[in-house]
Amino acid sequence: MCGIVGYVGSKNAAPIIVDGLRKLEYRGYDSAGIAIHDGKSIEIVRTLGKLVKLSDALEKRTLLGSTGIGHTRWATHGRPSEINAHPHSAGPIAVVHNGIIENHVAVRQELEGQGVKFLSDTDTEIVAHLIQRELVQGAPNLFEATRRSLLRVVGAYAIAVVSRDEPGVIVAARNGSPLVVGVGEDEMLCGSDIPALLAHTRQMLFLEDGDVVELKAKGYRIETVAGEKVERKVKRIDWSAVQAEKSGFKHFMLKEIHEQPDCIEATLRGRIDLAGGDVYAAEIGVTPELARGLRRIYFVACGTSHHAAMAGRYWVEKLARVPAVVDLASEVRYRDPVFFADDLVVAISQSGETVDTLFAVKAARAAGAKVLAISNVVDSAIPRLADGALYTHAGPEIGVASTKCFTAQLAALLMLSVYLGRRRETLSKERAQEVLQALWETPSHMRDVLGDADYMHVIAKKLTHAKDVLFLGRGLGFPIALEGALKLKEISYAHAEGYAAGEMKHGPIALIDDQMPIIVVAPHDELFEKTASNVQEVLARGGKVIMMSDAAGIASFPGRTLATIRLPDCDPFVAPILYAVPLQLLAYYTAVHKGTDVDQPRNLAKSVTVE
Ligand code: F6R
Repeated sequence: MCGIVGYVGSKNAAPIIVDGLRKLEYRGYDSAGIAIHDGKSIEIVRTLGKLVKLSDALEKRTLLGSTGIGHTRWATHGRPSEINAHPHSAGPIAVVHNGIIENHVAVRQELEGQGVKFLSDTDTEIVAHLIQRELVQGAPNLFEATRRSLLRVVGAYAIAVVSRDEPGVIVAARNGSPLVVGVGEDEMLCGSDIPALLAHTRQMLFLEDGDVVELKAKGYRIETVAGEKVERKVKRIDWSAVQAEKSGFKHFMLKEIHEQPDCIEATLRGRIDLAGGDVYAAEIGVTPELARGLRRIYFVACGTSHHAAMAGRYWVEKLARVPAVVDLASEVRYRDPVFFADDLVVAISQSGETVDTLFAVKAARAAGAKVLAISNVVDSAIPRLADGALYTHAGPEIGVASTKCFTAQLAALLMLSVYLGRRRETLSKERAQEVLQALWETPSHMRDVLGDADYMHVIAKKLTHAKDVLFLGRGLGFPIALEGALKLKEISYAHAEGYAAGEMKHGPIALIDDQMPIIVVAPHDELFEKTASNVQEVLARGGKVIMMSDAAGIASFPGRTLATIRLPDCDPFVAPILYAVPLQLLAYYTAVHKGTDVDQPRNLAKSVTVE
């Protein structure tokens, strides 16, 4: 959480940094700040609130200079305020930081004992003071002072530092929090994520944990915190800068919902063999030997990715007949779960940097299990730690509520399940062909659903005043019900619950009255009749049902509904991918009707790099 950007070159740095921060605002947006070196001194501007407040402040106070650093914050230590906003300074030093410094209290006490006065409540400020102290004690330059200071720092960080005494230099470092370096022509950049740099260069390098880098307009050098020189490979990123823009849509979330058919096509392309009813081994991140030898699949993920994992469990059990469990990554870390050496742990993370998922992966690896990462961000922390990676090709997701990455994860998981089923000989070529064909046709069905987006706008009006909304589903419909509820909660702030339809009578049915909208995910599959009878029980208690099904399901459902949402006929196996879309639109339009901040809902940040 929090986003940092740095620029050094010959252009005016402030607009470049503010533009980069805008691309990172999904990481946090309670305050922002910038430090610009004009060749002689450093000027700092910090504002409380979203980035637009910083832009407004910079209109009144223009900062000129071609080196600078910036920050957009999601508060961890110290409430959101101008004083706690970054950059933090000490003497000639200004620092921005993403992460959490675990030993900040002890270091702060030590520094206070030496007469240092702290101005903020943040953990970050100690870094500025440590670097200043190293310089006073004889470190020859900013790079060396930063490196030596970091030997004292325990915790997660990505930092960027400038010094009044060294114009044209940024020193940056990472440990546990992401940091990308952009290599431009006579300019260098750094940032928490690729989109922040894309407008300037596609040549990027990814620092490893423990790397410290010195950036100058004409080059860079990297050492580890321990002082060992290292090289990191520069890679060409094929995301385009346009992908990180709204392209005429009112919100990133709406744009990303509409991108889903393309994202799924991109995720499947070149990986599936429709005629052969198979998935190419080289593309999936799991060797055929591992696929045959594994005894259990252990999914770990958080939030929306956890819902994708639940569908993944269903698919691998059905198609590959592998026992599977799904765990919330945040529960894994302190529970000491049992991993076996012949487990395949599948860690699902859109960002690839969620700290809980990262720790679950570390625990699994320590126990000797093999790990497959499913992520949308190439070379992010979780895939780097895993034995294999299966990337979704959804492009940058900027809206804080995940949409296109969710359906791309589902497509990847179904593909993985077919692959495992074929290797383990639990899935016939013919059935694999059917499933893959259905998967391949999903984007086209999705386009039909998206063509009806205006209808969801109308239905959403019925939810605008609801305080509580229930989402029900069975089998593969259950994770989609959970995801529909999460989307509505996140962006419209309505209280919403997802439930397994069969669980209703074990408690939640007591909630139902004539004010309660109940959204039912019920494709006409083998479970339809069961779900339909649960819905009858709800109707009998006055519940207002919005029924999502296909033509056959809607025709055969006898009860009176508040509304129906008709989806194209499809193989029940791919239904979750399709049924997710109207629920995203429903949440989106409810939020729009209510006037909430769709792309940056309150209290949230997209990358959760703190526990
Ligand atoms: C919800 C959402 C979050 C994330 C969760 C995990 O819309 O985006 O629930 O799914 O924070 O993030 P990743 O997938 O990046 O590990």
